[in-house]
Amino acid sequence: IKTIGVLTSGGDAPGMNAAVRAVVRAALKKGMTVYGVKRGYCGLLEDDIEPMDEMSVAGIISRGGTMLYTARSAEFRTEQGVLKAKATCEKYGLEGLVVIGGDGSFRGAADLSAHGILCVGLPGTIDNDIACTDYTIGYDTAMNTAMELMDKLSDTSQSHYRCSVVEVMGRGAGYIALNTGVASGALEIITKEKPYDLDKIAKKMMEFKARGKQNFIIVVAENIGHSEEICKLIQEKTGIESRATILGHVQRGGSPTVRDRVAATEMGYYAVELLEQGIGNRVVGMQGGKIVDFDIQEALSMEKPYDGKLHQIAEDIAF
Ligand code: F6P
Repeated sequence: IKTIGVLTSGGDAPGMNAAVRAVVRAALKKGMTVYGVKRGYCGLLEDDIEPMDEMSVAGIISRGGTMLYTARSAEFRTEQGVLKAKATCEKYGLEGLVVIGGDGSFRGAADLSAHGILCVGLPGTIDNDIACTDYTIGYDTAMNTAMELMDKLSDTSQSHYRCSVVEVMGRGAGYIALNTGVASGALEIITKEKPYDLDKIAKKMMEFKARGKQNFIIVVAENIGHSEEICKLIQEKTGIESRATILGHVQRGGSPTVRDRVAATEMGYYAVELLEQGIGNRVVGMQGGKIVDFDIQEALSMEKPYDGKLHQIAEDIAF
């Protein structure tokens, strides 16, 4: 393969820039020509593409967001859209494409692969909801951001003897909620993956209050939602003054952590190695600390386990 493109697609995630940098630098090192495709698949549909050199990615490893911009494209999901994207790839001589994004982006990569463009997906999402990989680029930074914000909420709820109900992102999955809940010493972590009962939570709060506990953190996963309503009910059931906070998009920003930068670099380099060998229609992942790759369809059909044991530990030691 002589010429490849790289794009970021779907929700942005800290570390995407580090992945773009690794892809560009690895490809140049191997003597390839590299193009950056802007705003995900939209760049292929709108011919928004530019050549990349070593300098184009200088200084971006520490930056949040994505220098290639990102989008979710409805047009690309149609057969006509895929053909248009393919034509743009041909115009620039793109034989391969690295797609950094989530499951939705990988579906598009599979479609384009079926039309002869070798695509390799890199898992880039704060949600960590991609089944074929233990880890997704952006997850660690987002969790650290959420944890820091929860620490701040804990300060104010301590001062006021309050309960803080905090909603974190994660789309359909409760991984961010579970881990940030553990890390911030939450009383309760409410996710779809584990049944919960507000009456029981309220009873526990009253018991702990009787034993001297004055402030509480309850983490609610986005896949549950209704955090305002949950907060209201908790206050009604316990008489403890409560406030709901939806952390929202702040979780997507910020300079990536070491873990995200390193994972992005390793996976980005690996993606180029696959393309160099003429291998496409793959998703790169990390399993047990090792970089692995899967057929895209196979990757999309996998199911990710939820760490029920960790959730149980959090419940057992909560006070
Ligand atoms: O997938 C990342 C994510 O931040 C999810 O956690 C959230 O559900 C969604 O994207 C929000 O999307 P948008 O940026 O379109 O509001």
